[in-house]
Amino acid sequence: MKLSIELLFKKKKEYKKISMIAVNNYISAKICQEAGIDVLLVGDSLGMVFQGEPNTLSVELEHMIYHAKAVRRGAPDTFLIVDMPFMSYQISMEKAIENCGILIKQTKADAVKIEGGSYFAPLIENLVQVGIPVCAHIGLTPQWINTIGRFKVMGKKESEQESIKKDFEDVTNAGAFMVVLEGLSYNFSKSLKTDRAITIGIGAGKDTDGQVLVFEDIVGVVDFVKPKFVKRYVDGKNIFLGAIKSYKKEVEEGLFPSDEHTY
Ligand code: KIV
Repeated sequence: MKLSIELLFKKKKEYKKISMIAVNNYISAKICQEAGIDVLLVGDSLGMVFQGEPNTLSVELEHMIYHAKAVRRGAPDTFLIVDMPFMSYQISMEKAIENCGILIKQTKADAVKIEGGSYFAPLIENLVQVGIPVCAHIGLTPQWINTIGRFKVMGKKESEQESIKKDFEDVTNAGAFMVVLEGLSYNFSKSLKTDRAITIGIGAGKDTDGQVLVFEDIVGVVDFVKPKFVKRYVDGKNIFLGAIKSYKKEVEEGLFPSDEHTY
């Protein structure tokens, strides 16, 4: 059954944890829906795990739409959030609302995700007013990589904590129904709580209302980087590598296709 925002809040109220996965294609989405994952996110991390870029900055709105359409086809009955990529919502209020509208119309997503805090509160308020639910994303915000220098735990200094607390207050007061908290110490992220919004953690400890990880990290096909918060549930890279090597060997030895695979 597809969860609505109301049902997601019901889970929060009943202290039932919410599961969320970032996916970028039809097959992964289909697997996640079959597994009963509560929420799917088409994250701009696809710039890294799908496109092979070093960060998310080069992802375009058209890329997000392309991937989100495929994910929606694979998971028609799962609550779907799609990331607004870098520079698709920063230029002006008008452009941002227009781009969010295009994304919702073309992908049949249920909500958009916007990285950034207090500065984007007016945009969040406007989007909510026109009927576009917003998931905010604060703490470590990868679209700020050129400002912060590297992916790291945020909020280590007291001044940083104050500013992240303000971001949290402002985006939730503006009407964000969900907030992704990324790259924060457990002790600090525990203090970010409200009845107004559902908190989803990634590298923020266990006290959030739910957790999100990237599909390719969960299945272990990303083997070139492993942040502490990532748990690989299977060694997908080596399982696939083994399968591909076996295929290559059988083709070379004339063992594939056998009678079983021949018309
Ligand atoms: O882009 C992404 O996949 C994300 C999640 C990891 C939160 O923003």
